[in-house]
Amino acid sequence: MTITSKSIALTIIFLLLSVSCASSQQETKFLNHGFLGANLLKFGSSIVHPSGLLELTNTSMRQIGQAFHGFPIPFSKPNSSNSISFSTSFVFAITPGPGAPGHGLAFVISPSMDFTGALPSNYLGLFNTSNNGNSLNRILAVEFDTVQAVELSDIDDNHVGIDLNGVVSVEYASAAYFDHRDAKNISLRLASGDPIRVWIEYNATEMMLNVTLAPLERPKPNVPLLSRKMNLSGVLSEEHYIGFAAATGTVTSTHLVLGWSFSIEGKATEIDLTKLPSIPKPPSPPSPSSTPPVSVKKDSNNTKLIIIFAASATGVIIMILALLGFWLFRRKQVFFTGGARKFSHQMISSATGGFDNSRLLGERNSGSFYKGNLTPTEIIAVKKIACTTRQQKTTLIAEIASISRLRQRNLVNLLGYCSKGNEIYLVYEYVPNGSLDRFLFSNDRPVLTWSDRFCIIKGLAAGLQYLHGEGQRPLIHGNVKASNVLLDEELHARLGDYGQGIRHSSASGYVAPELVETVKATRDTDVFGFGVLIMEIVCGRKAIEPTKPPEEISLVNWMLQGFKKGDLLQRCDTRMHRDELVAREVLLVMKTGLLCANRSQEARPMMKQVVRYLDGTERLPHDDYLFYGV
Ligand SMILES: *[C@@H]1O[C@H](CO)[C@@H](O)[C@H](O)[C@H]1NC(C)=O
Ligand SMILES: *[C@@H]1O[C@H](CO)[C@@H](O)[C@H](O)[C@H]1NC(C)=O
Ligand SMILES: *[C@@H]1O[C@H](CO)[C@@H](O)[C@H](O)[C@H]1NC(C)=O
Ligand SMILES: *[C@@H]1O[C@H](CO)[C@@H](O)[C@H](O)[C@H]1NC(C)=O
Ligand SMILES: *[C@@H]1O[C@H](CO)[C@@H](O)[C@H](O)[C@H]1NC(C)=O
Ligand SMILES: *[C@@H]1O[C@H](CO)[C@@H](O)[C@H](O)[C@H]1NC(C)=O
Ligand SMILES: *[C@@H]1O[C@H](CO)[C@@H](O)[C@H](O)[C@H]1NC(C)=O
Repeated sequence: MTITSKSIALTIIFLLLSVSCASSQQETKFLNHGFLGANLLKFGSSIVHPSGLLELTNTSMRQIGQAFHGFPIPFSKPNSSNSISFSTSFVFAITPGPGAPGHGLAFVISPSMDFTGALPSNYLGLFNTSNNGNSLNRILAVEFDTVQAVELSDIDDNHVGIDLNGVVSVEYASAAYFDHRDAKNISLRLASGDPIRVWIEYNATEMMLNVTLAPLERPKPNVPLLSRKMNLSGVLSEEHYIGFAAATGTVTSTHLVLGWSFSIEGKATEIDLTKLPSIPKPPSPPSPSSTPPVSVKKDSNNTKLIIIFAASATGVIIMILALLGFWLFRRKQVFFTGGARKFSHQMISSATGGFDNSRLLGERNSGSFYKGNLTPTEIIAVKKIACTTRQQKTTLIAEIASISRLRQRNLVNLLGYCSKGNEIYLVYEYVPNGSLDRFLFSNDRPVLTWSDRFCIIKGLAAGLQYLHGEGQRPLIHGNVKASNVLLDEELHARLGDYGQGIRHSSASGYVAPELVETVKATRDTDVFGFGVLIMEIVCGRKAIEPTKPPEEISLVNWMLQGFKKGDLLQRCDTRMHRDELVAREVLLVMKTGLLCANRSQEARPMMKQVVRYLDGTERLPHDDYLFYGV
């Protein structure tokens, strides 16, 4: 009796011990094929699908999702300040939403799982403008970024970066993998929707951090994409949490993780690709034939079946398209707005409380703007335009098709439209901080610092360059001015009200001389307006101020005089603190402004050059050039 109870007790102790061993082992080494039953803590928009797929964000705007392994990982040996080697491998996929993809996904090692106050979009749900780059963060991340943020020094809209304490990467490269057979780099589209496998390895003795990636079907390349010597002792000195974070902005993607393996000291176990969940087809693909369902499992029988199915499906689709084409041919109006989402009048009306006066944001450019809520979190701005002629309405609807395809982070993106009677409603994303003119010319808003202003100017240049789209069909803005620039909560510039029929700007001071004669807006007249606008931003005054002494009425003339006298710097907004000004940047902006606002059309640069001047990748032409044609 006593013996048995003793042995039972021993067995229980043994079981408890082995369980605790198992769980302590789980803390330093684990492997998840899918995340059903995984020890995972989810935050924000993260969910685990019934298939085991981890979805960090869906394609709604400004989502943040994180997911962390449930136990912290001890990143240093007891009584030692040296950090420890680790190795991890995971499979992710990024499926873009309706427009361009955004923003990205990151593997994260962080002392805490609390990211309250972190921003979506470029900040990936990990940082905000105040703690970005702060060494107290002690966060190491590897980002897979699908948006180019010029002000954060991103090289392109498809890159991988090693981030230490902030989103400005210490090491980065365009996404690619090394092909051993051909001995060359093959580039890889992060947001293709196809699964991509990643290996991140850190050897604490060599102090080397390597990041390698490849399409799922490829073996691990033997040359990493990123390899950087880093002493992580100061960063990973104790227990840290490991996991993933992703965010969307106004451009969106579904960010997915399919499987994850991790180990400290020693290699992470290889992921068994046949055990991974498959990626569901995006809910409403814009072109069904170009995005076949992605199946991770390789099975030749299945493949055959899929081919047969696809072949017959293609036949059906062709027939449907033919019928649809015929129908559309008979109803030409529908065809125009192919890409744009069509809202019902009832939906817009209920979102804006029946266009209630309390929702009126303002009247601008022959339309009234209302704030609306599609859902409690999805806020929109609706522009109501009353068309006076049938011609105006047809032109506007035709424009909607092309502008609804545009997605760029410095534009106020058009989400869709609605037409009823002679009224057209344009549905835009809502930009919280209102228009730039309020910040510049009235005293009811905080004074913008120089770094805010420089960032706004660079953002505007990028947005306008995108509209002028070298290569693709260019779109003329036609109305570049301070009241058409909105600021989002990070005080980044968003150019609004573009492309509604090419009309010339009538705003005083922004009108290029040739416009007065030809009345036709062009890229050059946009560049002129941009030049005037950026000088307004630096000087904090309007292009034309009739109450000033005669020589100061026109901003452009006043700046030209300053340039001749060599006292340009004294003419910037006196509300900015002198010690925050970076003279080199201020002069760069002022001279770029003068060059753009040159009387002579030929002397003005293209927007893509302007972007390079402001980036410092191209030098401004010789000073004398500014006087060309003056
Ligand atoms: C994304 O998720 C949120 C919250 O779960 C939901 O309200 C929204 O409709 C989803 N968006 C899409 C595009 O599926
Ligand atoms: C760690 O250091 C403490 C005091 O410095 C000492 O008591 C302890 O035994 C050490 N532990 C190990 C594992 O060396
Ligand atoms: C930035 O993030 C930190 C840490 O998450 C938070 O404490 C701080 O309040 C945030 N700052 C702002 C301005 O939101
Ligand atoms: C491949 O890319 C890496 C990292 O960008 C670079 O260092 C290397 O020189 C490239 N190799 C070839 C063969 O282009
Ligand atoms: C990182 O890559 C370099 C270059 O291929 C290699 O020599 C080194 O051993 C790698 N280190 C780790 C930790 O994988
Ligand atoms: C690495 O950093 C730690 C802490 O910052 C420091 O104590 C150590 O000396 C560094 N190691 C090397 C080789 O620089
Ligand atoms: C780290 O590099 C050292 C020296 O190259 C090697 O001896 C050691 O095995 C490596 N450690 C790991 C965990 O790969």
